[in-house]
Amino acid sequence: MSNVTWHDTFLQKEDYRRSHGHYSAVLWFTGLSGSGKSSIANAVSKLLHEKGIHASLLDGDNLRHGLNNDLGFSAEDRTENIRRTGEVAKLFVDHGLFCITAFISPYQEDRQRVRALLPQNEFIEVFVDAPLDVCEQRDPKGLYKKARAGQIPSFTGISAPYEAPEKAEIVINTALKSIEDSAKQIIAYLEDKGYIH
Ligand code: PPS
Repeated sequence: MSNVTWHDTFLQKEDYRRSHGHYSAVLWFTGLSGSGKSSIANAVSKLLHEKGIHASLLDGDNLRHGLNNDLGFSAEDRTENIRRTGEVAKLFVDHGLFCITAFISPYQEDRQRVRALLPQNEFIEVFVDAPLDVCEQRDPKGLYKKARAGQIPSFTGISAPYEAPEKAEIVINTALKSIEDSAKQIIAYLEDKGYIH
């Protein structure tokens, strides 16, 4: 990029990790609307907080009220949504925090681009896997009903695609598991792999 200079910082990721006393990584939740992403992400952030682990939570709906309030739901806008969020998530990881993100992030390529921003073990993809008919039946915000009635264009799963991950680090079937057990599954993964103790 011309006329723009990168400034090295005195403090590095390792310095932050040392003072926090734990590793840092992105927990990237992906799944259909109504699959349970936000609820599980919230439960995980609470469990991490209770363990004294520093974690931030970025939720798609919430970021669309601020940072991403200029974006809609076209493929291009969703790609930009995920690009910006990925960059923000990386900043958190570079500052020694876990960053939990809850976005539909329907495109494999967009998620792959975020993964490529980080070292291999610092991007943990969490596929919140609930079948469309289950999500549609839950319909917590009444959006599927509106989408079926043609009132929401490009609605994921109805009139816009969702590309499921092929090799997510963690897969959660929320049709079979409670929010609490799903969150515990993620904490167990982090403990198992030595991210946290
Ligand atoms: S994306 O695809 O990652 O850019 O979407 P995201 O930023 O996660 O925002 C998804 C939430 O926006 C609401 N909403 C829609 N979702 C899908 N398709 C369309 N057209 C749409 N319009 C509004 C909806 O509340 C989503 O929240 P969740 O939590 O996924 O239900």
